[in-house]
Amino acid sequence: MAYTLSQFCKDANAILKSHPQAQALPKVAERLGELLVNPQFVAETFNDDTPAGRRELFHDPELDFYVLAHVQEGGKTGKPHSHGTSWAIYGNAKNLTEMTEYRRVNPETEENVVLEPSSKYALRPGETRSYGPNVIHSTAHPQKAWVIRVTGTDLDKLPRFHLRKQDRVLEKA
Ligand SMILES: [Fe+2]
Repeated sequence: MAYTLSQFCKDANAILKSHPQAQALPKVAERLGELLVNPQFVAETFNDDTPAGRRELFHDPELDFYVLAHVQEGGKTGKPHSHGTSWAIYGNAKNLTEMTEYRRVNPETEENVVLEPSSKYALRPGETRSYGPNVIHSTAHPQKAWVIRVTGTDLDKLPRFHLRKQDRVLEKA
């Protein structure tokens, strides 16, 4: 039987309760991958007329995690950011997300932040990745993409890292 949204939400709750976060997140990411390859789930969640932006599919009242559906416009590149103290899981349902993760290369004592890309990869349909708290990353969507994101809490309420004018990204050759 195809893996459904409600089963995913139940499994995510059970996994997060029974494992330490670092072990739980990759397991939840794996389940999200199963959900993303269920054509019925994708058809119920997105269609070509779904406007760009985000919609809440589920909120877990016990653990406070969210399942969000995003339609990303094509040709857009985001800036490096973290989700502060929250974790997040990203997965694609259509086209791809180009993901870059960064590490800080200057001392914490310096006011400005200097970042260097530490890994770059694409998330294609059915592919997912989990990010622990404070992992700095950026996304790009060369084409319009359908994305599911699971977040540990309501990210709009959290202070998070955004690149400022005095911060820099060192591009590796
Ligand atoms: Fe993000």
